[in-house]
Amino acid sequence: MDWGLKNRLSRIIKPETGKTVMLAVDHGYFLGPTTGLEEPGKTIAPLLPYADALMPTRGVLRTSVDASTSVPIVLRVSGGNSILKELSDEEITVTMEDAIRLNVSAVAVSIYVGAEYQKQTIMNLARMINEGERYGIPVLAVTAVGKDMARDARYLALACRIAAELGAHFVKTYYCDDFERVVRTCPVPIVMAGGKKIPELDALKLTYNAIKKGASGVDMGRNIFQAESPVAMIQAVRAVVHEKATPKKAYALYLSLKEAEAKRRKK
Ligand code: 5RP
Repeated sequence: MDWGLKNRLSRIIKPETGKTVMLAVDHGYFLGPTTGLEEPGKTIAPLLPYADALMPTRGVLRTSVDASTSVPIVLRVSGGNSILKELSDEEITVTMEDAIRLNVSAVAVSIYVGAEYQKQTIMNLARMINEGERYGIPVLAVTAVGKDMARDARYLALACRIAAELGAHFVKTYYCDDFERVVRTCPVPIVMAGGKKIPELDALKLTYNAIKKGASGVDMGRNIFQAESPVAMIQAVRAVVHEKATPKKAYALYLSLKEAEAKRRKK
């Protein structure tokens, strides 16, 4: 792997622990103003100091993220779909030149394996990998699932392996039973997507299990920014990912940080 590409990847997946806590805030590209992200700048600013990397769209990056930040950016560069139409109908929305101009550390492209526009999305990924290799920019493949797709190990292992075979430098996928199999059969690092909002303790358990079964971290959105206390939640997730805290210990940390925040607000 090229030095620049390796260097950028190591800004995201921290060499000290071999893990990462990425904060996903790109939901609006097909979901519009998602709960918790109505005003992206207000959501992102207090969470940014605790994120190892931020995953926004180009528009949110430009309008809602302080350009002086040292947090590496993983820029979403696929889109063109919306929740109202076929989700897999994505194309590339940002050129590699613009991604470089924005000083990103990686770009993210979704693939919809088994869906109507499977080939188009896989070729989107292949194209960005070719360009990423030319300029030293790592590519994160997002194994998006369509409305009717199973999220089981057989399907997710298939999608992750296809992404890795094409040359994706890291892959984002969902947690499932037999997650070890998905990790074992994917030769590049896997980060876990959080998925729909669940109770905080359950999200910490999910994180713990993913890390235990070999994930290189999380790329989590709703379970952080829709938590009752997002700033407490991202710190609890960090404790699991980087310090191997148990869900019980991390949840206790979450509650104490939440309480401290509530006290500060009352003053
Ligand atoms: C959608 C994405 C989103 O960034 C990601 O899935 C959102 O994270 P979360 O599921 O944790 O809210 O890549 O394809």
